[in-house]
Amino acid sequence: MSETSNAPSSGSVVPTPLTQAPGAGRACRAVGFDRTGGPEVLIRRDLVQPEPGPGEVAVRVAYAGVNFVEVLQRRGAVPVPALPFVPGLEVSGHVAAVGPGIVDLPVGTAVAAFTIVGGYAELVNVPAARVFPLVGAAAGMSLEAAAAAVTIGTSAVAMLTELARVGPRSVVVVSAAAGGAGAAIAAVARHLGVSVLIGTVGSADKVQVARAHGYDIVVPHAELATAVHRATGGRGADVVLDSVGGQVFEAGLAALAPRGRLVKFGSAAGRTESLPSPMALALANVAVMGWSSIDLALAAPEIIAPATEKALALVTDGSLVIPVQEVFDLSDAAKAHRLLEGRRTTGKLLLLAGQA
Ligand SMILES: NC(=O)c1ccc[n+]([C@@H]2O[C@H](COP(=O)([O-])OP(=O)(O)OC[C@H]3O[C@@H](n4cnc5c(N)ncnc54)[C@H](OP(=O)(O)O)[C@@H]3O)[C@@H](O)[C@H]2O)c1
Repeated sequence: MSETSNAPSSGSVVPTPLTQAPGAGRACRAVGFDRTGGPEVLIRRDLVQPEPGPGEVAVRVAYAGVNFVEVLQRRGAVPVPALPFVPGLEVSGHVAAVGPGIVDLPVGTAVAAFTIVGGYAELVNVPAARVFPLVGAAAGMSLEAAAAAVTIGTSAVAMLTELARVGPRSVVVVSAAAGGAGAAIAAVARHLGVSVLIGTVGSADKVQVARAHGYDIVVPHAELATAVHRATGGRGADVVLDSVGGQVFEAGLAALAPRGRLVKFGSAAGRTESLPSPMALALANVAVMGWSSIDLALAAPEIIAPATEKALALVTDGSLVIPVQEVFDLSDAAKAHRLLEGRRTTGKLLLLAGQA
């Protein structure tokens, strides 16, 4: 299991995406890298996507979501299975073809999918267990909203409900509150009716952004402890969701009330935090949990699927609106990466790969 980031662990079996098959297949445009480095290593690749294998669905991509883990993969901070590599955790689009054994996904069906790899492309093959048809009540959902919700919507639902088990009296703290994940978590937390939602941000200009996402109190990362102390009269927070790491993780852990839960789901600032001993956690009556949608989607798609379905249902009924900050053409993936790693995201970034 990967430690704290949204990254496949070294032990995960990750399919190599979009190999340049000499035989039958469909030509498609993709963006990937054949060496790690800065955003400039993201280049166009003309590839042949093999026909979908047994249990697979070929998705004609409309939108691909851009995620922080893809920046880490591009930099070489998170290992990828092989080079050249086409990143891309999530997409929306239409079924282009199905492999043997798939009978319930007609060609042309609108879908959202947890690709895990290969999403920065016009076409990608995905195991059917990670493909979510946008039918029934979800039929009217925009493909833009669907792509935006797959990873961060799923993560917000799973972390707040299954892991942290928030309730109406919960005081919840979220780091990097102004970004894409911060926005999704705020929307789901509001839907669940949490009592107080505290967000932390890295710069003053993000305070208003996070407030607009739905946070009651927004403070600089360094003021997390003070904000929790003030908001709870010294009792502490029930839940902390941390994706920044380092001192923010440590402050979040120290700010927990007895029986509080910290969910670690990223390490944007690096994996520099020190972990307390299990006995120290016992004496403080707190728990530290981890969430990695990649690892879970790969290892046990049937476990993660209900959270994705719930997230898409919340998008359908209007409870989960994830602000899309900007849509780039697929060929401009490097621009999206610059925005994300430059800490300039105030919502979700998408790549337009084909017809929406
Ligand atoms: N485990 C999972 O399944 C999962 C799923 C989705 C997302 N995530 C994680 O959640 C986090 C948010 O994802 P996102 O795609 O929505 O990104 P985002 O929040 O829009 O952008 C990342 C934010 O992290 C903060 N940050 C702190 N230190 C940073 C540093 N040294 N470099 C860059 N950013 C830094 C910045 O906010 P401030 O300026 O406010 O500090 C930055 O805007 C990421 O860490 C991602 O890996 C995990």
